[in-house]
Amino acid sequence: MQKLTIKGKKKLSGTISISGSKNASLPILASTILFKKVNLKNIPMVKDVFTMIELLRFIGLKVSINSKNNSLKISNSNIKINPIAPYKLVKTMRAGVLVLGPLLSKFKKAKVSLPGGCAIGTRPVDLHLFALKKLGAKIKIKEGYIYATATDGLKGEKIKFPKISVGATENAIIAATHATGETVLLNCAIEPEIKDLIDFLKKSGCDIKCNGRKITINSKKKFKNSKHTIMFDRIEAGTYLIASALIGKKMTLTNLKPKIISNEIKTLKKMGVKIKVQKNKIVISESSNIKNQVLRTSPYPGFPTDLQAQMMVLMTKANGVSKIQENIFENRFMHVPELKRMGAKIEIKNNIAIINGPSKLSGAEVMATDLRASVSLVLAGLVAENRTTINRIYHLDRGYENLEKKFVKCKANIKRI
Ligand code: EPZ
Repeated sequence: MQKLTIKGKKKLSGTISISGSKNASLPILASTILFKKVNLKNIPMVKDVFTMIELLRFIGLKVSINSKNNSLKISNSNIKINPIAPYKLVKTMRAGVLVLGPLLSKFKKAKVSLPGGCAIGTRPVDLHLFALKKLGAKIKIKEGYIYATATDGLKGEKIKFPKISVGATENAIIAATHATGETVLLNCAIEPEIKDLIDFLKKSGCDIKCNGRKITINSKKKFKNSKHTIMFDRIEAGTYLIASALIGKKMTLTNLKPKIISNEIKTLKKMGVKIKVQKNKIVISESSNIKNQVLRTSPYPGFPTDLQAQMMVLMTKANGVSKIQENIFENRFMHVPELKRMGAKIEIKNNIAIINGPSKLSGAEVMATDLRASVSLVLAGLVAENRTTINRIYHLDRGYENLEKKFVKCKANIKRI
């Protein structure tokens, strides 16, 4: 099993180019099941994307990867479609459940493995099934699989989500593009990745209108071949922003749209981080005294749960008591015991982490548990005294493209062994 070793306290200086968004790529890739020919650019070459490509090939699509320029060519001749998403592929990449909507609405049947839980929680899919049933799907669960059929195809419907869910919103939008009639979705998630998915679907000929958390989809008969460039990864950008706040001398992040992460930038500025925003880049200079902060995670445009672990590391450097309340997932503090072993002073009370700062972190051997927890351990290793070794870094490789290369380019002492 590969590890990362980091020699801490090396100030970072340089430029980091932000990759394409994993969480925009996955739903867009799933939706290519619906169309004949698709060209995608700015795809991050990360494990979850390769798993989704493996799943699309298993289903019967032709996918050619050009890893030199991060682009994909996808074609679907609809000849031998195998509308199945097997457990072996879905268990490591729960976004595999996103093929359920397109398979059902185009091929009228699907057999998709339940994703199973993961480190941050049980990760149910009841809201996905709720929406698809409303569109007319017959669903039964047997031996860990979702068996879904829609013999007369899906029918447009008015659906109000009882709870905001990114994946369920995505599955419903994709399915509704091939349902007959009009579908109105209410109380939708409106993450930028969903907007990117909608931009892609509209380029492919779908009729979709957004109005706040209400999304209206009208079915069409004809669709088009399309080209799309995936948006930047705002969570990767937030991660490098926090790394620069922690131990940056002069850092520049490029290939991003600062407006999309304006709330995160505002929060960091309030904490005393020196950030200069330009058109499509951000410059962060050395920030000495970081102020404590109280934060709570919530659906976009609130503070993203995917930056909670990273922000917690910055809070260990802040003067005074900080708090961060995790409202999205029931078990997303797996990084806390590892950070405490490095000297962080953190207590957990229900879904609130209380961080006493500033605390001196020292290097240790630690273990990654999920994608964002692992990157918080990398951030801690960068600021800690001595050496930190991180085990199980396959979690990291699921969602960060060339992480150590990007850090080494900015003078960090970080090696994969
Ligand atoms: C997406 O997961 C992201 N993954 C997650 O990023 C992100 O943390 C999450 O949205 C929230 O922003 C991808 O886009 C591939 P949800 P998703 O449905 O769709 C509960 C990362 O690190 N829920 O918005 O699974 C669920 O358990 C990953 O890149 C139900 O109860 O998130 C959670 O508590 C981690 N029933 C809450 O809703 C359902 O049917 C929000 O989940 C679905 C979800």
